[in-house]
Amino acid sequence: MENHSGRLVLVPSPFQGHITPMLQLASTLRLKGFSITVAHTHFNFPDPSNHPHFEFVPILDGLSDHAHISSQNFIAIASTLNTNCVSSLREFLIQITKENVEHERIRCIIYDGLMYFADAVAKQLGIPTIVFRTTSATNLLTYHAFARLRSNGYLPLQDSRSFDQLMPELDPLRFKDLPIFNLPNSDAMLQQIEKSLEVRSSGVIMNTVDCLEGSSSLGELRKLYEVPFFFVGPLHKMAPDSRVSFFKEDNRCMCWLNKQASKSVLYISLGSIACWNEKELTEMAWGLVNSKQPFLWVIRAMPFNINGSGSDWVESLPEDLKEAMGERGCIVKWAPQKEVLAHRAVGGFWSHCGWNSSLESLCEGMPIICQPYFGDQRVNARLLSHVWRVGLEWSNVIERGEIERAVTRMMVDEQGREMRLRAVELKDKIRLSVEEGGSSFKALNDLQHFINTLSL
Ligand code: UDX
Repeated sequence: MENHSGRLVLVPSPFQGHITPMLQLASTLRLKGFSITVAHTHFNFPDPSNHPHFEFVPILDGLSDHAHISSQNFIAIASTLNTNCVSSLREFLIQITKENVEHERIRCIIYDGLMYFADAVAKQLGIPTIVFRTTSATNLLTYHAFARLRSNGYLPLQDSRSFDQLMPELDPLRFKDLPIFNLPNSDAMLQQIEKSLEVRSSGVIMNTVDCLEGSSSLGELRKLYEVPFFFVGPLHKMAPDSRVSFFKEDNRCMCWLNKQASKSVLYISLGSIACWNEKELTEMAWGLVNSKQPFLWVIRAMPFNINGSGSDWVESLPEDLKEAMGERGCIVKWAPQKEVLAHRAVGGFWSHCGWNSSLESLCEGMPIICQPYFGDQRVNARLLSHVWRVGLEWSNVIERGEIERAVTRMMVDEQGREMRLRAVELKDKIRLSVEEGGSSFKALNDLQHFINTLSL
């Protein structure tokens, strides 16, 4: 396909849950006629051979080759990138602007909200920008609430008795659902959030969909921003062919799934960043075994980095436990998650409630046992359990008895069956949104026209 609508430079954040939707967005925009350049950090550089139609340009990030991501250093890495990448991105943009091929001129820069340095660099060079927010719209609203909560004396959170209270103007979220809750580095996160909200681009793209968040959040966001919003999600359904995994998917689990009864299997994956220790892993395993339900479990090597190096936790499971699991459990280091969630044998998902996993689950009509760890995951878990009512809220205590009870509620009890029915209704609504004439389909067309109005 020849693309003559001009070039878009995309600046993703190098984390799995962020680069995935950014490259999906890139695929949808390429189909609209734009040429795509992805300006990416050396850290966690994606495999360009999976995206032969994009140009990939490395930007220097100053991180060590051995850097890895965990929930402890996530914010520190994001902050470092915003300092270290400035000059490399600027040099690249100056060079490409000088080359000045008429139909290939940069229309605009689309950057991940975590990579807010890109906005300042672009503005210095007179290039328009659009920010891409990879989390839910509700989560973005919580970011805007921080200043108000602070000035009203609610923050910093101090009194544990108030953690369960509903937050003013953010109902049904509670104080303990705030993305900064329980983070050892919550001040650093607040600073990052404030910096990312200071910059104002020409528009905001969100990987969400009207039928999930349109009525609750869009109006509020429009009061806060004077620029257009585009709810173009779920992007994995808008760009189904886009493959973006940093890790190698183990497809053998699909053969195992083929042998299981319909809706019988619990799929467990806690995303690409959350960490757990050996004791928690053992308790989870016994809880699963004692529930007597078949399960497919992703146990990542940790710490996670692109080379996949790190401890192999599966091998550390005690022998008697491995024996007790027998054929009922299948364990892999990384699964083809979207295919797994769509498989007829899978009947529930035990998830950390990252936004991509939440959307992928909703799109397949799959109810979720919510185990949020940090950041937006708490907000998503609350939406899943209390707004869409397809998520199971439980004690979140990693102890075998608690886990066995939660799994039984989801996979055996009436409660799980009801959640599954509601999830299927939502799946149908989301499907209509991405089809021709649906809200996300229209939002993507609006985005295309909007980009075309930005000056070349
Ligand atoms: C991070 C944050 O944790 C999350 O809260 C935020 O919304 C985005 O950034 P992550 O932990 O990577 O995300 O979770 P998530 O957003 O769910 O993304 C994980 C992605 O990895 C999903 O697209 C999922 O399909 C994929 N995945 C996960 C696999 O392909 N295979 C697996 O085995 C596990």
